[in-house]
Amino acid sequence: MLNWDEFYSEGAPVKENKKKIVSEAQKKEVTKERKVEIAKDSALEQIAKSTLTEEDLNVGREDLEALDGRVQVDQKAMINSRADVNQLVPFKYEWAWKKYLDGCANHWMPQEINMTADIALWKSNDGLSEDERRIVKRSLGFFSTADSLVANNLVLAVYRNITNPECRQYLLRQAFEEAIHTHAYQYCVESLGMEEGEIFNMYREVPSVERKAAWGLKYTKELSDPNFQTGTPENDKAFLANLIAYYCVLEGMFFYCGFTQVLSMGRLNKMTGVSEQFQYILRDESMHVNFGIDVINSIVNENPNIWDEDMKTRARNMILEGTQYEIDYARDSMPRGVLGMNAAMMEEYLKFICNRRLVQIGLPEEFSGVKNPFPWMSEIMDLRKEKNFFETRVIEYQVGGSLQFD
Ligand SMILES: [Fe+2]
Ligand SMILES: [Fe+2]
Repeated sequence: MLNWDEFYSEGAPVKENKKKIVSEAQKKEVTKERKVEIAKDSALEQIAKSTLTEEDLNVGREDLEALDGRVQVDQKAMINSRADVNQLVPFKYEWAWKKYLDGCANHWMPQEINMTADIALWKSNDGLSEDERRIVKRSLGFFSTADSLVANNLVLAVYRNITNPECRQYLLRQAFEEAIHTHAYQYCVESLGMEEGEIFNMYREVPSVERKAAWGLKYTKELSDPNFQTGTPENDKAFLANLIAYYCVLEGMFFYCGFTQVLSMGRLNKMTGVSEQFQYILRDESMHVNFGIDVINSIVNENPNIWDEDMKTRARNMILEGTQYEIDYARDSMPRGVLGMNAAMMEEYLKFICNRRLVQIGLPEEFSGVKNPFPWMSEIMDLRKEKNFFETRVIEYQVGGSLQFD
């Protein structure tokens, strides 16, 4: 914990302690120490003056002077904008700011969820069937690294190519939420006493999990060259493909089999703590997907030249590939019927999600006549803060610092 004394220096507020009796000798010692500190300060000042010149500041000023006066809303754009990214307002994309506020209003932490019943159930010999245990392990194995892949892609590939401060503000919030999700999976693995090596290496060792991770990483790698920048139709398309890969497929498709399985376990009163963690995560994820879809559609609206037949075919194929990988994962994680569902029902659900993702980015549905066999999933995703999602507990988040004065 930080202590105020660590910040003691001339001019800093110091708590008055009337009860403390200080001898004359101690006072002299303190004065001597202060003189040494002041001497050090003036030496620092000298160094600062001798090394920092106006020319040095000019390097930073070049960026500021390259901007055309005060930011106007119509200068702002999703990509390739020259408007100042350091000025949040005036807003152009009000929806991005609204999503940032909604994300903050839904803040939660994994430790708030009681895992006691899960620990007892997981450790009992006849609490869960082998098929149910397989689902818990596969889900934690996939998600514990998938959210890291998403976070890394946000920070390394997405953030620097989005030239809009209100969207960047949401991306920062999303990146923190992804860290909370990774924390939640780690918390589940630790609470249940699972073998960490087995769970955290599943994305390299279990083929149906590995394929999904490799598919996502391919798109991060495409943009990971530090010299990559948008501004040509080819690179703008590569960036758009990255957004489709992560928002429509990774977060918008690859999460859905595992979420449905674990939430269905919770509905049957099994692994209720893990299931509750997944409910919070699913709600965050549905906001991430909605944000990503809005970003994708805004980029397409502002740059219609890149949304040509070639790009439409590419986007459609990516979403169909993702759907197939998720169907494979459903078959692998659910070799038999379990929890009132089976791989065939999950396949229909994933095709239903696939249609939805295609339509959301302006492409036609691929699978006609498919229905949602799990309508309760939509209810969970659509829960809003004002409907008392958090009514089971009282949460008061501390705001401000946690400095102690004693
Ligand atoms: Fe996440
Ligand atoms: Fe996410």
